[in-house]
Amino acid sequence: MDAGYEFKPKMVGFLCNWCCYGGADLCGVSRFQYPPNIRVIRVMCSGRVDSEHIFRAFENGIDGVFIGGCWLGECHYSTEGNYDALSMMHLTRKVMEQIGVNPARVRLEWVSASEGIRFAKVVTEFTEKLKELGPLGKGEGMDAGELQLKLEAAKKMLPYLKLVEREKLRVRFETEKEYDDFFNSAEVNRLLRELISDKLAISQITTLLGKQPLSTREISEILRVDQSEVARHLNRSAKQGLVCYDESRNCYAVAS
Ligand code: FES
Repeated sequence: MDAGYEFKPKMVGFLCNWCCYGGADLCGVSRFQYPPNIRVIRVMCSGRVDSEHIFRAFENGIDGVFIGGCWLGECHYSTEGNYDALSMMHLTRKVMEQIGVNPARVRLEWVSASEGIRFAKVVTEFTEKLKELGPLGKGEGMDAGELQLKLEAAKKMLPYLKLVEREKLRVRFETEKEYDDFFNSAEVNRLLRELISDKLAISQITTLLGKQPLSTREISEILRVDQSEVARHLNRSAKQGLVCYDESRNCYAVAS
């Protein structure tokens, strides 16, 4: 890193209109200090923030995504969207883990409209964490091409992730700890590995093949995945009609 260069992480903050946005406003009016590198997007409820927004932010070069909502039990809507935000954050982090992006780049906090100081504190803490992690991609040891490929692949499978969430993981607990325990349980991790890992790997392969035809070995080298694993995914994808094999060139391409 260049001497004297200070990494200033780019952050986007999705703030609930009724609480956290008010907290941020109060923070500004009261002249509490917090890092200026957060760009705020006001949403009506933290439950409106979707995994797709997060991956899109990363695709656009954002280093960290902050979501600020009302405290649990204080959401202004009968649907209590902040509980949905908790589930969404956990699932998004699982996908991030699987593609090698540090899940700590997404942070969800509760801040009421009267908690200007708390807003400054949590945003400052998040900024410090992102500084530790380094720029998105670089911090993960990925070059820009690999990062974009992984984010694109992850984004493509989000509709499937939502289906998994709706069918298998729709839960409602009272406390954050219960959500932590549930989403970090061995059973949920096993379920996600079974339902998501292969889909994500296939999504990465088809995204890659969408750019150019490649051999099994080339795919294995680019994705840094064992050749036998790549061959297994290619066989499965060929059976599903997603990819086709070109014998003359000994490579695979996306089926047209
Ligand atoms: Fe603030 Fe729902 S209205 S989190």
